[in-house]
Amino acid sequence: MPMTMSSSIKLKSKQDTFKLAEFLAPILDAGDLICLYGNLGSGKTFFAAALAKALGVPDFVTSPSFILLNQYQGSKFPLYHLDLYRLKNEQEFWELGITDFIDKGIILIEWPELATKLLPETIQNLNLHFSFDGKNRTVDIDAKDKFAPYFIK
Ligand SMILES: Nc1ncnc2c1ncn2[C@@H]1O[C@H](COP(=O)(O)OP(=O)(O)OP(=O)(O)O)[C@@H](O)[C@H]1O
Ligand SMILES: [Mg+2]
Repeated sequence: MPMTMSSSIKLKSKQDTFKLAEFLAPILDAGDLICLYGNLGSGKTFFAAALAKALGVPDFVTSPSFILLNQYQGSKFPLYHLDLYRLKNEQEFWELGITDFIDKGIILIEWPELATKLLPETIQNLNLHFSFDGKNRTVDIDAKDKFAPYFIK
């Protein structure tokens, strides 16, 4: 039976984001897709950088850019970081070549709303929703299928 667990975690400091990344890194495999939802400045890229570090990526780029896709090499798998904020359409999404690398490494997608409509629902099993109200940061996690057991309270 498919299972979903939800968890809400307060991120009181950058250290808390690093802790979440360090918890997730060892349970990830090639082919895993992590969708990072949340408003501007809610902490998606910071989490992506923390996860990259936890996966052994030495050269993650955090500066804002117009690049939709960055590829890195972690200690076990490649990491594909997509930021689709400026994605114009479906065609531009497919031109990123996702079908060539989706099963090769770990995929992280910021602003995934358009992509999730196009990708199979079966691989959308770890969704992180970041929020920041100017004072408090929270991440709400929906963990399905193989990720669910790690989030049983
Ligand atoms: N857990 C945290 N504690 C403190 N500061 C944080 C935390 N997470 C992120 N930040 C800070 O918040 C700012 C915005 O974070 P970030 O760039 O990750 O947001 P984003 O969600 O990627 O935004 P965008 O949608 O514009 O790409 C950065 O300066 C970052 O260092
Ligand atoms: Mg960002």
